[in-house]
Amino acid sequence: MRISVFGCGYLGAVHAACMTRLGHEVVGVDVVADQVASLNRGAAPFFEPGLPELLSEGLATGRLTFTTDAAEAAGCDVHFVCVGTPQKAGENAADLRYVHAAIDDLLPLLRAGDVVVGKSTVPVGTAEALAERLDEGASGAELIWNPEFLREGFAVKDTLHPDRFVYGARSNEQGERAKRRLDEVYAVALGEGTPKIEADLATAQLVKVAANSFLATKISFINAMAELCEATGADVTLLADAIGHDARIGRRFLNAGVGFGGGCLPKDIRAFMARAGELGVDQALTFLREVDSINMRRRVRMVDLAREECGGSIVGRRIALLGAAFKPDSDDVRDSPALSVAAQMQLQGAHVVVTDPQAIDNARKKWPDLAFADTVEEAVKAAELVVVLTEWPEYVGLDPRQLAERVDAKRVIDGRNCLDPTAWRDAGWTYRALGRP
Ligand code: UGA
Repeated sequence: MRISVFGCGYLGAVHAACMTRLGHEVVGVDVVADQVASLNRGAAPFFEPGLPELLSEGLATGRLTFTTDAAEAAGCDVHFVCVGTPQKAGENAADLRYVHAAIDDLLPLLRAGDVVVGKSTVPVGTAEALAERLDEGASGAELIWNPEFLREGFAVKDTLHPDRFVYGARSNEQGERAKRRLDEVYAVALGEGTPKIEADLATAQLVKVAANSFLATKISFINAMAELCEATGADVTLLADAIGHDARIGRRFLNAGVGFGGGCLPKDIRAFMARAGELGVDQALTFLREVDSINMRRRVRMVDLAREECGGSIVGRRIALLGAAFKPDSDDVRDSPALSVAAQMQLQGAHVVVTDPQAIDNARKKWPDLAFADTVEEAVKAAELVVVLTEWPEYVGLDPRQLAERVDAKRVIDGRNCLDPTAWRDAGWTYRALGRP
């Protein structure tokens, strides 16, 4: 099939490359010329394992192109809307300007029978408004809402082999036809038996924010338990293992630490609360305010713990921070807990040196005043405290004995509960972690 993808960021670039792998002919459209040029060279504008290979493969087939000219999407049968929906400045609500701009671009190109597929995360009610815009434009095209659940770092796998498909459509003949078109697009994964849930537009939009809210709640739940553990001398990692054995609870997303960040979970729960307020059901989601607060408290606790470890003050102390990305296998620093802690420590007078295997360039753009080192060895030189804030495998696998030779004081704080406390203590380190004795 001929497919267009509007918006070639984390979601769209991966989606475009994956759709080519599935045998489709794909044109990716984005307004950022540098990003388009980079994608056309086969260079991913962000770090995502497997994406460069998939881009090169797609470009070599001649079935994948990227452009800034929306008109090149004319003649496509299916148009995916994958643009960003960031948090509005100074508000909790989502900024929908890019979604509407994509529809503006699409309207003159659409033909009867074409399908517009919304994948961006939007406040419920947006899809209905967009469907009306298509009707008013008399395009004859039909809108389907098909939320995306990919995780950064696993985006290629999650797109090619998703754990489920959700289609939201109007219950009429066009809606039905549009769903069958989407079946053709996803024929390979559907053939593998991937579950599919067909729903109305509202449910499909809600599924996405409900899923992210549940994940955020799970993380904040275990971080709240970490606060209890800190007050009682209990160990949150053992607690998570123990409750996680109950299949109804499950162990995944129960890793306590410095909390969640990134371009999705924080802004999605806030936009969800804002939308609930508009709908007059704000009480239904007041718990998400607490989820957000627990999450933010972990960052403050991290700085407090550093202060305790440094004997009451971090002023003038040299602190090495391992990790800047919001999670491993990503160079994304949007709302990164690691950088938020780094900035706080620096503002409170510490001499902070940050390192990360992939995210230093992005981190430097966001916080140019922070000091950065390319390697762990450089970052920890003469450090009086080492803090692990992103659980990159290379940090999890560090040899505490080797590292001990480079630091001034053998103090480590494990902000992700990812190190082996026994190995570090045996090597002479004072080991502290969030939620552990
Ligand atoms: C999240 C969802 O997991 C995806 O399903 C969704 O498609 C995506 O948002 C989106 O809306 O586009 P992502 O932002 O890539 O994916 O990151 P996650 O893997 O969910 O991690 C989010 C944050 O939670 C990270 O900062 C991570 O370190 C933290 N986290 C995760 C914890 O603190 N503890 C855990 O147990 C798990």
